[in-house]
Order: sequence, then C-alpha cells, then structure tokens
Amino acid sequence: MSEYLEKARVYEMDAEQMIKAEERPFFHLSPRSGWMNDPNGFSMYKGKIHQFYQYYPYKTQWGPMHWGHAVSEDFVKWDYLPAAMAPDENYDNFGCFSGSAIEMQDGRQMLVYTAVREEEKDGEEIIRQTQCLAFGDGVDYEKYPSNPVIDAKGLPEGWSPVDFRDPKIFRFEDDDHYSLVVGGRSDDGSGSILLYESMDGIKWDFVTVLDRCRKEYGSMWECPDFFELDGKYLILTSPQSMQARTLEFHNGNGNIVVIGNYDRKLHKYTREGVYAIDFGLDFYAMQTLKAADGRRIMTAWMQSWESSHAVPEGQRWFGQMILPRELRIKDGRLYQMPVREIESYRKDHVAYKDVYLNKSVVLPGVNGKVCDMELEICPNGPEYTEFRVEFHADSQFHTDFIYHPKDGVAIFDRTYAGFANDINNKREFAVRYQGGKIKLRILLDRFSAEIFVNDGENAFSAVVNAPKEADGIRFFANGNVKMNLDFWKI
Ligand code: FRU
Repeated sequence: MSEYLEKARVYEMDAEQMIKAEERPFFHLSPRSGWMNDPNGFSMYKGKIHQFYQYYPYKTQWGPMHWGHAVSEDFVKWDYLPAAMAPDENYDNFGCFSGSAIEMQDGRQMLVYTAVREEEKDGEEIIRQTQCLAFGDGVDYEKYPSNPVIDAKGLPEGWSPVDFRDPKIFRFEDDDHYSLVVGGRSDDGSGSILLYESMDGIKWDFVTVLDRCRKEYGSMWECPDFFELDGKYLILTSPQSMQARTLEFHNGNGNIVVIGNYDRKLHKYTREGVYAIDFGLDFYAMQTLKAADGRRIMTAWMQSWESSHAVPEGQRWFGQMILPRELRIKDGRLYQMPVREIESYRKDHVAYKDVYLNKSVVLPGVNGKVCDMELEICPNGPEYTEFRVEFHADSQFHTDFIYHPKDGVAIFDRTYAGFANDINNKREFAVRYQGGKIKLRILLDRFSAEIFVNDGENAFSAVVNAPKEADGIRFFANGNVKMNLDFWKI
C-alpha cells in the first residue's frame, strides 16, 4: 500500500471518532470524514452492496480525490471500510475521479476509474483524463501496473482527452464480454457517451458514440450509466451547465434520463424521451446496480455543486447520498421509490384517516427529524388552492412542501431550513393534475428531505440544516382538504 493511502486510512479512523453519530445523517451515507461527492462503484460483490465515493478525507472541501468505501446488506445501514484508493500514481496525481466496480468471474473485484494527471508544459497546466483499473478483494486494491487501459488513443477523432471521464462498467446478462460507458466531450464541444467493449477488462475497443448532447442538454455529460429496464434502454447522465426549460432542467449541474431503444447488434441507440430525474435542489451523479433479486437500484449524490461551499459551521463531514431508489418504467416514464428495505426500520406507527384541514394542524405522534410518511390528499368539497406540509419545524425553522393543484405545481422551500448562506432555497416543479388529489411519500433524515409524488412519478431531494430541536411537522390547507396519513419514526 502506498504511503499516501496509508496516511488517509490512519487519518480517517481518527477523524471518524470526532464525529458523534447524532451529528450525521441517520440512514443516508455520509463520508467517514471530510468531503464526499459522487457515488462510485455502486455494485454487488460477494453478496454485499458496495458503495465507494469521491472522497477527500482531510477537509470538508473538494481536494485530490480518493475513493472512500462502505458496505451494506440492505442499502440503509452502512459500515465504513478503509479508503480504497488514493491519488498516488503519476498518471492520477490530480485525483482518482469517478468510476464503477464489478465482480469478476475469478472472484476479484475490479474498479474502473478515471485517473486525472496534471502536468506543466511551457508554463501551461495540462490535464489528461484516462481510464484505469484496480483489482481487489473487497477491502484492499492494487492498481493495475499497466494503467491506463484507455487513453487519448482510444478516443474517436476530435474527442477531448481533457474531458473523458466517469467509466461505468457492466455486462448484459447474456453477454460474454464487458461493456463500458464513459462521458466524453465531442467535437462540437458538448457532451456525449462513448461505448467500449472488452473480453478481459484490460484491452478495450471503442464501439460507438451511444448518444450525444448536441448542445441541447447542458455541456459535458458526467457520470453516465446505461442499462435495460422494463423493455427500454436508459441512459442516466449528469450534464454540466444546463439551462432551465419551463420547470424542468434547472440551471447548472443537472440530471437527465434518456429513455429509448437499443439495437445491441447494430449498436444503435434511439431516443424516445429525455426527462429530469429528480427536481430537487440537491441531486447529482446518479449510479445504478442490479440487485440479486433483479431490482434496478439507483443512488446519487444528494448535494448540488452550486451550494457545495455552504458547509455548516463546525461540521466535520460534508456530502451525503440519497437513500437508494428502486426504478421502474411505466407508461414510458421513469418511476422511482425508496428501497423497500427502509420499511423494516419503521417504528411507532401512527395512522390518521379523514383529517379535515382548513387551517394549520399538528397531529399527536407525528413529529421527529428521522421519519417516513405516506400522505393522501383530496379535496373536500370545492377545490382548495394550497396544501402545505412543514417539517424540520419549530417557531423559527421550517422546510415546506407546498402543492397548488390548480397551477399543477409543487414548491419546495427551505428558506428557513437553517443555512447561513445565500444558496438556492426554492424550486417549483410540475405535478400531473388529478382532480386535486395527490399522494406523497416523505422521508426525513436529520439533514435532508426526499419527497416522492404519486407513487414515484416525481422525486425531489434536498439537504436541510435546521437544528435538532426543530423536529415539528405541521399540515395546512387553504380551502377544504381531507388527508389520510401513515407515519413512522425511523
Ligand atoms: C461529477 C464529477 C465527475 C468527476 C468527479 C470529480 O460530480 O465532476 O465528473 O469524476 O466529480 O470529483
């Protein structure tokens, strides 16, 4: 093991002790110490769920990227493992950027990552991104001595060697070879997804440009994923520099799913639709795995780059993942719901039926910062103009989810969620009109809220920072509303 990695492993063990359990999210993965961004290597290995992550253990800021590591048996409770990689080679001196992992037939786990090398030439800083490997046993990894395995020579003509990153390795069930999708910047300056194939994971052949941004959805496409789901082929990617359109694709670093078809013989991808995946303030760099029971499970970084400077004072960790979600395609659209495993953590069930709301209501037994709830709202008589639920609330703090049925919009507002920074606090998104009815699933953790509308038709994730005393939950309607509620603490 290199000195560089050993230093990180020693440091993180000590630093972890300085963070009290109650100062972290309860069921969302956060870094062992310091900084976390993208999920990496989200995959099954020897029956366990592995999740690596972009990691700088020493500070709550982005720095030379390491890979942090955690394992889980149920997507909910995570155990830290020692940092898996450090930027300790010449070819990755600027960082071990994002990538993926796969269990090999010989029992080893293979990590595929982007090595970023920085060098100075004639006073100019030159960056090169290449794809590299490391092999290990689920805890310790050795970088492949002949790294990189894909460099500029493996790029199609005109593609940039500076923006060439985030390899996702996979195998279609009936394939005898590995496939790999990597984000690239094409000759028109915008993002694209490059597909490679390999028999052994070492020698890779470029196959095709799977899809291209053509300056329509942001610029560089980061963190691609590609898989089959319910008879469709999906590309997930996180575009930089997006421009908002109506209420979809908010500005900046965003997220999209491309739903389409793929001819595996001709390697031809045909788009059917492009949609935002999560409308929240904090959601980026999605990655999926196929669970042993066949479910397609997605994780993502629950943080936006734009507000990633807003580290709450005194906090010794920064960055967290969403609670992984089960994905489905229904009526040509992506549906997502929290993994069902969270349900076995539910306790203190409280149920209310036909609660009439025409003012602010607090319900006995319904409070807390770590909880799960299912709500069904319907108009009671003439249509109402607003339904609102406030959580992480006390007399000073509250975070609001607001629904305006007539406008067909939902609004998330964290203006009073405890951030002492002028970050983006509010977002609106479109909700399909169903006669004023709306179904919500709300998952709260100490530092976040995840909201699922109408059985996963829309999802919304955001981090919050209200103090631990702000644990109230209030309901309100303008007009007459009837509400059914199932509530659990977690
Ligand atoms: C996305 C990203 C990736 C890159 C990593 C670096 O958030 O920019 O493209 O590999 O973060 O930490």
